[in-house]
Amino acid sequence: MLKVAVVGVGGISGAHIPVWEEMEDAELIALCDIRPEQMEKYENIKHYTDFEEMLNNEEIDILDICLPTFLHADYAVKAMERGINVICEKPISLNEEDIDRVYSTAEKNNVKFMVAQVLRFWPEYELLKEIYDTKKYGKLLSGTMTRLGCYPRWSWDGWMMDEKRSGLVPFDLHIHDLDFMVYAFGIPEIKYQYRSKLPDQDFFTVNYDFGDFSINTEASWYATCYPFTAQFRFQFEDAIVANENGKMIIYLRDDEKIDLSEEAEGDTGNINLPKSNAYANEIHYFFDCVVNDKPVEKINPEELRGVLKILKSL
Ligand SMILES: NC(=O)c1ccc[n+]([C@@H]2O[C@H](COP(=O)([O-])OP(=O)(O)OC[C@H]3O[C@@H](n4cnc5c(N)ncnc54)[C@H](O)[C@@H]3O)[C@@H](O)[C@H]2O)c1
Repeated sequence: MLKVAVVGVGGISGAHIPVWEEMEDAELIALCDIRPEQMEKYENIKHYTDFEEMLNNEEIDILDICLPTFLHADYAVKAMERGINVICEKPISLNEEDIDRVYSTAEKNNVKFMVAQVLRFWPEYELLKEIYDTKKYGKLLSGTMTRLGCYPRWSWDGWMMDEKRSGLVPFDLHIHDLDFMVYAFGIPEIKYQYRSKLPDQDFFTVNYDFGDFSINTEASWYATCYPFTAQFRFQFEDAIVANENGKMIIYLRDDEKIDLSEEAEGDTGNINLPKSNAYANEIHYFFDCVVNDKPVEKINPEELRGVLKILKSL
């Protein structure tokens, strides 16, 4: 039984904590947040408001970092120096130099480290990558990726609205799509970019050139309460693979389509879209690497470096 602690009990921890609680071979023993009220609803787990105190008092095998972005690298290093394995929310950092610092600390202390880039574990995105890898519908010709929401006024101490602490839309939101593209298709060149950044809204569009195809992206925190939207549409020679309006649909030639959305009925051929929770998938993957001493191959520092370099230029 491995002992787990979570630091940062804000928005995204709500997607991580239930996964740890449901795992049979892991025990969530401690939570840490500087705001005690954040931990109140988790009654049977020890609460700490001081990170060092938690590290001094508890024997922790895995630390799950759900802190604001600017704290990720320092907290990961502190824990790994004590021999603790670390899974950390995205992004690893706002600074490329931290990548070496974090990975060399993991190596020196013989522990595992993983940034939780959740799209790499998201069934719809995994299926898209598989279709691309297998050329099931021919070559990829073009793509669009969208990620939109409203200005994050809810974050602790307003950290998300502070460029120095969050990196704003590029590092907080667009990183999901860019990281997936780098993982699935390699490192692109920027062909076109436009950004409109105001004190209470941030929008940009970037066209990425991958050599044989280009992908158009848009990402925004709008000033109004625009609903959160994350979707893609990819054009292959023989099919359009679209994840739009909450539905994953493959549009084939001759007006046929394969509807993979949850409520759809009918034959999906050999296309498998597991109905799994991506946050559980990433946590289970990391846990398996720790328990069975496997390398964390799915997310590597070279790709993370490529992503941070591009984000810096947006
Ligand atoms: N993968 C995803 O889909 C996804 C979604 C949202 C956020 N995130 C990432 O998760 C991270 C956290 O985002 P969030 O939305 O949960 O933010 P949040 O502001 O809701 O939560 C952060 C929590 O950290 C606590 N905290 C701040 N400083 C602390 C310290 N020194 N010690 C202990 N606790 C401290 C705050 O009190 C707060 O409860 C960010 O890096 C963000 O990029 C990922």
